[in-house]
Amino acid sequence: MKKIQRLACLSACAALIIWGASACKKETATQAAKPEITQAKGNVHMDIKKEAFGNLPDGTPVEIYTLTNQNGLKARLMTYGAILVSLELPDRNGKLDDCVLGYDRLEGYVKNNPYFGAIVGRYGNRIAKGQFKLSGALYKLAVNNGENHLHGGIKGFDKVVWTAAPVKKANAVGVKFIYLSKDGEEGYPGNLNCAITYTLTNDNELEIGYEATTDKPTPVNLTHHSYFNFTGARRDILSHELMLNADRYTPVDKGLIPTGGLASVKGTPMDFTTPMPIGSRIAQVEGGYDHNYVLNGGGGTMALAARVVEPDSGRVMEISTTEPGIQFYSGNFLDGTINGKSGKVYQKHFGFCLETQHFPDSPNKPNFPSTILNPGQTYKSLTVHKFSAK
Ligand code: GLA
Repeated sequence: MKKIQRLACLSACAALIIWGASACKKETATQAAKPEITQAKGNVHMDIKKEAFGNLPDGTPVEIYTLTNQNGLKARLMTYGAILVSLELPDRNGKLDDCVLGYDRLEGYVKNNPYFGAIVGRYGNRIAKGQFKLSGALYKLAVNNGENHLHGGIKGFDKVVWTAAPVKKANAVGVKFIYLSKDGEEGYPGNLNCAITYTLTNDNELEIGYEATTDKPTPVNLTHHSYFNFTGARRDILSHELMLNADRYTPVDKGLIPTGGLASVKGTPMDFTTPMPIGSRIAQVEGGYDHNYVLNGGGGTMALAARVVEPDSGRVMEISTTEPGIQFYSGNFLDGTINGKSGKVYQKHFGFCLETQHFPDSPNKPNFPSTILNPGQTYKSLTVHKFSAK
């Protein structure tokens, strides 16, 4: 209840600052005069541009939106998978680089996408054996990861075409994506109406707001799956320094299903409570990092989850979220077989993901925070990525 009230308050505040296009222009002009928020080279105007991005093999057109804030940061988002295609961020000298992995063209995403930049759902992460019981009934989901269900199944939210509309606020531009996941899709019960709003603010934040409603009880656990690389994907991410605001994590079995317990990170290579280079102890973690951390913030209200610093460029990302967990994945399955943007070969550990979420396999773990959404309730979740350079 507390979580829902807090989030309702956040969206009410957001609604208050929607002034429409003309007010938006006025605000841009006023704020452009303030030197402290002009971080990138030059001084540009907030903008939203919509273009065609190609067609799916069945002919469905896909559109791409380019959001630009007044500091020159750019985020490109497409209707296929509600994918963040590129994210240009300034380094300490104001030089912009694209800091997420992906492809130049739609075809790449359609042929082989290990969730680059995508919205993941209906359930981000794994559900053991692809099944769970709810209100006495056994539901069987698509099994697509060994014997388990991963990231929403065979055709998850990362592979569907969303309906998009631009969002203009006084101090930000965004895109709202809408998708109706039908009753029975990938085995899930209930028609689930989802809305994801990405917002790029003039304070250099990329916000991702999630909302969903259902007509039958169903598990919901939505997340975003960008692979970040703050060198501009010039080399692997092992020298990025990571802080995770988490004293515990959910230990897993061989199939990466949580055992149900919570383990302390203290004295182990899992400990990122003080900033550490990602690569400093990775050799001691079998397979690399692919674990859900239990955030100290506890979920329900906005709290700092992670901070990443790339020492050479000075780029910094801080993630705050209302979610109780975050999956830290160190790009272990990248193996040099993907040629990404500009033909770049994505080797092992070329990107890392920080997926804010509820814990894996929650529908089968009664002691984990519940992921069940009931009719009449609204699922709400907010994650903010704040970018800077030092
Ligand atoms: C998540 C999972 C990983 C992997 C990646 C994508 O982070 O936890 O095991 O599936 O997505 O490859």
